[in-house]
Amino acid sequence: MQDWFDLAKKIDSLVLEAAASAGLEDSFTADIRSADPRFGDLQANGALPYAKRNKSNPRQIAQSIVEKLQANQELAEVAELSIAGPGFINFSLKPSFLQKWLTTFSGSEQLGKAAAHLQADETVVVDYSSPNTAKQMHIGHLRSLIIGESICKLLEFCGAKVIRDNHIGDWGTAYGRLFYAYKRFLDEENLQANPLGELERLYKLGSKLAAEDEAVVAESREELVKLQSEDPESMKLWETVNGHSIDGIKQVYELFDIHFDHYLGESFYRNMVEQVYKELEECGLGEKSEGAWVVFHPEHKRFATQPFMYRKSDGASNYATTDLATMLYRAEHFKASSIIIETDFRQKDHFEQLELTTQKWFEKTGRSFPKFSHVFHGTIMGENGKAMASRSGDPVLLKDLIAEAIERAEKLVREKNEEKVAKGQAPLSEEEVAAAAKVIGTGSIRYAELSQNRTSDYVFAWDKLLSFEGNTAPYLLYAATRIKSIFRNFEASELEALAGKASQIETPEELALARKILGFVGVLQQTIETLRPHLLCTYLFELAGAYSSFYNANKVIVSEEAIKARRLMLCQRTLDVLETGLGLLGIPTLERM
Ligand code: ARG
Repeated sequence: MQDWFDLAKKIDSLVLEAAASAGLEDSFTADIRSADPRFGDLQANGALPYAKRNKSNPRQIAQSIVEKLQANQELAEVAELSIAGPGFINFSLKPSFLQKWLTTFSGSEQLGKAAAHLQADETVVVDYSSPNTAKQMHIGHLRSLIIGESICKLLEFCGAKVIRDNHIGDWGTAYGRLFYAYKRFLDEENLQANPLGELERLYKLGSKLAAEDEAVVAESREELVKLQSEDPESMKLWETVNGHSIDGIKQVYELFDIHFDHYLGESFYRNMVEQVYKELEECGLGEKSEGAWVVFHPEHKRFATQPFMYRKSDGASNYATTDLATMLYRAEHFKASSIIIETDFRQKDHFEQLELTTQKWFEKTGRSFPKFSHVFHGTIMGENGKAMASRSGDPVLLKDLIAEAIERAEKLVREKNEEKVAKGQAPLSEEEVAAAAKVIGTGSIRYAELSQNRTSDYVFAWDKLLSFEGNTAPYLLYAATRIKSIFRNFEASELEALAGKASQIETPEELALARKILGFVGVLQQTIETLRPHLLCTYLFELAGAYSSFYNANKVIVSEEAIKARRLMLCQRTLDVLETGLGLLGIPTLERM
């Protein structure tokens, strides 16, 4: 049964086998996709293109495959077959198979074990968040952090080895002014309490003074030159400043319970740039243009004339150079089979050029090129349609955003508590209120982020993301607690005794819910293929909908044990997938809310 976890894959292999034994050529592909629900669950579409290529009749091709498939005993227990239209083969899953699947892949643990085969041989470096030093983490930093972390969790769940690497911008020109101010105006106490705030204050102060005074400009420049020539004293200061900066960043990550394996920022690659210069020149990719070193891509519409500059005319390295070195390091040191970088859409050109350049460079030097994905996102807008800003006009800080979310969530939980008291139910304790507020608050921010197609802009609206209705975190969290509350009325031994007694699922709502639960695997695959977590969110929302149709139409707690047992089984499986899915989005579920 284990190989039926990934149904589409299993059916794909059966169709290929059947096609081969029906005498079709190797060029045949099964093309499995989901079927029109009126006709079945899955559909094999391969007969059409095959017939077109071979100038034969697609329906006959489909017929010959179906005849072979029908001889397969294993498949006969799984699905009914039919041919539709010009030659689509439909697979309609049998209720007994749905039930068998649900009992085999029971519990989040079994789901996890089965899913861990999907990406088992992959080593993926995920570069996300990656802020620049001496800047507070603000709303502009939210999407990369949340989307990147969810991608890590999804890949890990599917069995990949994931390396979370924070490519912080820690070697930029900002240090001249920052050091100038740090040496003169440091507020040690504020640095301890709010490291990023203090560093940002100093950087801004340095910039302001430089704008007013030529002498400050000169001194700042000197600081920068000293740092870039790795003068020991400057390096010491740089380390201190970066230490504080990383401490500050981690304080924000802590609020989201996000932890990186590495902080290999731009500075880490500064001594590898010589190798990049040398290799790109030697393999004939790099050329000198107007004093700088660049790579053109003649086959590309824009990059044939728009250069990828990797060494400035003054001889210095830039963002492209350190990124080229980064690609090499990730391929060689981490042996990455795949590299994912999550940033905002404005860096699309940079990463497209980086990919093209690295691909050619690796090919020319006999290295294998890992799969590369630049995962990009659009902008978060305020409700006024403009980029979200705080009252001072600066971008909203992440720590303030989270604090506000938790505060608003707490208000909601307290309102629900009052409703409970009015209904004579036990309210949540103070401790439970605080825990629920944290989960709902941070979960809502995460879900608002993840449920949007990442490439679009979206409007950040408190009322919407904290609503108990619609495709939101509170709605899904509430759905999960409602299922949990059903089980609270049972002893564990009672449930165990019932488990073996389940009769065959049969009502339309039971079957629809079962089908939806099985759909989890396909959605998981699609989500990691496209690196678009909103697909998983949409699915979870639909799952909750299928559950509520089932629950409204089919009484769970009935006197007949066999019916009660199978309906409780469906409740449990729904909860397993809801909890697993929310977990992949970084949202834990609650017992009560
Ligand atoms: N520090 C960059 C920024 O704030 C993002 C870095 C992304 N990663 C990379 N390897 N370039 O825009």
